[in-house]
Amino acid sequence: MSVAIPETKVVLKDIKKSFTTKNGTLQVLDGISLEVRENEFLVLFGPGQCGKTVLLNVMAQLEEPDAGQVIYSDNRKVYGNIGVVFQQYAIYPWKTVLENVEMNGKFKGVPKEKRRKEAMEYIKLVGLEGFEKSYPSQLSGGMKQRVGIARAYATNSDIILMDEPFGALDAQTRYQMQEEILRIWQQKKCTIVFITNNVEEAVTLGDRIVLLSNKPCQVVEEFVPDLPRPRNNMDPRFLELRNEIASKVDLAL
Ligand SMILES: Nc1ncnc2c1ncn2[C@@H]1O[C@H](COP(=O)(O)OP(=O)(O)O)[C@@H](O)[C@H]1O
Ligand SMILES: [Mg+2]
Repeated sequence: MSVAIPETKVVLKDIKKSFTTKNGTLQVLDGISLEVRENEFLVLFGPGQCGKTVLLNVMAQLEEPDAGQVIYSDNRKVYGNIGVVFQQYAIYPWKTVLENVEMNGKFKGVPKEKRRKEAMEYIKLVGLEGFEKSYPSQLSGGMKQRVGIARAYATNSDIILMDEPFGALDAQTRYQMQEEILRIWQQKKCTIVFITNNVEEAVTLGDRIVLLSNKPCQVVEEFVPDLPRPRNNMDPRFLELRNEIASKVDLAL
């Protein structure tokens, strides 16, 4: 029997990034190497302020590393061709849900009818049908993040980077959105790189969980949860893994 080996989508090679601050040089990323595989749900998990957002910006090619390389398997020009869901609701308050979702298509000059049709597909996918004419101020936090997710998918990118997308939500909505993102990912397969500083969220979502350390930020260890989906956070194996990872974060601080 042959086993399909997942293709590599992105490779990070020995990424370094520092900033000059008034107290001297702050080495944030200190030799990060990792691989992102096709269609996986990869979680990057690390404590607050460890450099997760800097790493995501480097992956999205929004920021240049000091050293190292980000290599996309198809050598794509990443800017505008990759979906990003930001920590804060980075959606335009003066634009409707539909206008926010179709924005990337508009930038790229996709004809109006085509981009509207596609935007509507993704609005449906994230469960916002009927709200396409609403403005962000009329939406709850969870719904705003659904807009962000639809907009990221509407780039038609096969890899989506998410930076603590549920960090600002209340616990109940956060659980709901975790279920939603898994449903969306299972319905419309793509590679997701999901950043979190919440261990339970990491174990709920990840095919793989990469633990990052703080000051400097390095890859500490990788975990592959042997838990069937949907995962139950009361399952003893879930709790065991959650506690194992949590104890290692304490050591990594
Ligand atoms: N442009 C910048 N200039 C100076 N310091 C920065 C800059 N961007 C990030 N940092 C610093 O890098 C560290 C990591 O930041 P960040 O990636 O936002 O952390 P995280 O997302 O893990 O909470 C922090 O100490 C932050 O202050
Ligand atoms: Mg951050």
